[in-house]
Amino acid sequence: MEFGSRNMFHISSVTFFVVLSIATTTVIESSSNSECNFRAIFNFGDSNSDTGGLAASFVAPKPPYGETYFHRPNGRFSDGRLIVDFIAQSFGLPYLSAYLDSLGTNFSHGANFATTSSTIRPPPSIIPQGGFSPFYLDVQYTQFRDFKPRTQFIRQQGGLFASLMPKEEYFSKALYTFDIGQNDLGAGFFGNMTIQQVNASVPEIINSFSKNVKDIYNLGGRSFWIHNTGPIGCLPYILVNFPLAEKDENGCAKQYNEVAQYFNLKLKEAVVKLRDDLPLAAITYVDIYSVKYSLYNNPKKYGFEHPLIACCGYGGEYNYSSSVGCGGTIKVNGTQIFVGSCERPSARVNWDGVHYTEAASKIIFHEISSGAFSDPPISLNMACHRNSTKIY
Ligand SMILES: *[C@@H]1O[C@H](CO)[C@@H](O)[C@H](O)[C@H]1NC(C)=O
Ligand SMILES: *[C@@H]1O[C@H](CO)[C@@H](O)[C@H](O)[C@H]1NC(C)=O
Ligand SMILES: *[C@@H]1O[C@H](CO)[C@@H](O)[C@H](O)[C@H]1NC(C)=O
Ligand SMILES: *[C@@H]1O[C@H](CO)[C@@H](O)[C@H](O)[C@H]1NC(C)=O
Ligand SMILES: *[C@@H]1O[C@H](CO)[C@@H](O)[C@H](O)[C@H]1NC(C)=O
Ligand SMILES: *[C@@H]1O[C@H](CO)[C@@H](O)[C@H](O)[C@H]1NC(C)=O
Repeated sequence: MEFGSRNMFHISSVTFFVVLSIATTTVIESSSNSECNFRAIFNFGDSNSDTGGLAASFVAPKPPYGETYFHRPNGRFSDGRLIVDFIAQSFGLPYLSAYLDSLGTNFSHGANFATTSSTIRPPPSIIPQGGFSPFYLDVQYTQFRDFKPRTQFIRQQGGLFASLMPKEEYFSKALYTFDIGQNDLGAGFFGNMTIQQVNASVPEIINSFSKNVKDIYNLGGRSFWIHNTGPIGCLPYILVNFPLAEKDENGCAKQYNEVAQYFNLKLKEAVVKLRDDLPLAAITYVDIYSVKYSLYNNPKKYGFEHPLIACCGYGGEYNYSSSVGCGGTIKVNGTQIFVGSCERPSARVNWDGVHYTEAASKIIFHEISSGAFSDPPISLNMACHRNSTKIY
């Protein structure tokens, strides 16, 4: 075909080139390599993508959480939007309602099963006695399994009910997004495990992850967008609690990041295996680690300063304390001090010692949506393609 069009144009070489490239583009667009028209997003994860799940069930973030974009706390553990919000926005879809939120939710274009402090494996301890969410990945899957048929039952009631629920065909045309694993590593580090023991537990964590992807596939999921885990050793909550950790050239805790990298290596291997096992799935592995790490390695490039210091926190080298968090108050020398936001959260990477600012999430989204950090290297809006075949 391309050969044929080459022979058709007996004109100057510049024009020839322009015309030929237009012709080639048209061929690609009219083939199966067209943009994916995702009509819904179903998200699974932890605080990196929680849009209100933990807030509806346990602990709601207080001001100044949410101040940058929503101008009030809105269930996200950030000053504003998260990566998953920018993903939804890029498809022209509304921000995802949290599945656990029973007030004012609208699931017509997806649902968010993520909750802050969720793990992949069953958590060692649960809020309020311990630090973890009971809604670990298996539970998030169970909620989704229940959600799917019930939304269709509700849709049959028509009218307003129908407008709040996803259409049946959206389940196969949805993007299934994942950002989970950081708390499995954290649970190990903060439990009584050595770094080597946490590292050795990684394959088991990844097996549990794979099982859930398969289960969602068996319910009809086809397009999967899987974030790997970030450089946990660059976060104040690690740096403050493990002060003796060896630091790398950017001040991050080296071995903690090495465990995260081992997690990512095993996750990537698991994704390759999943592609074999799930012939009708398009699975994109997204290297969030590298994008986040570049914010510590070269903050100025992105307009950031003090990447290792929490914007909203209290005390010490990292402006972070385990005894009082962002939005809390602490008595210092007889005076109550409110832990509020720094002056320019838009120039900061870390929001509260554990979570990223909206400004950082926005940049991370821009970097990953191009496909430059994906395996296979396809952009977000092409994530329904399994090599050149469109999955739905
Ligand atoms: C739910 O959201 C969809 C898409 O934004 C909108 O069309 C629909 O009207 C909403 N339903 C209600 C009851 O607000
Ligand atoms: C770690 O071990 C110490 C001493 O054995 C114990 O007091 C503590 O509760 C343990 N912590 C966790 C998180 O298991
Ligand atoms: C984690 O385990 C892998 C495989 O055994 C090993 O190659 C790696 O060095 C370990 N990393 C750490 C930080 O222990
Ligand atoms: C509290 O008071 C002591 C004694 O006056 C002083 O040395 C210290 O710096 C004060 N701490 C803070 C955080 O202001
Ligand atoms: C640390 O947090 C406080 C709020 O408690 C904030 O006012 C301050 O600007 C932060 N410091 C830095 C260096 O960001
Ligand atoms: C594309 O996917 C098919 C179906 O899974 C697979 O058999 C084939 O090897 C893939 N082709 C390439 C070029 O990766």
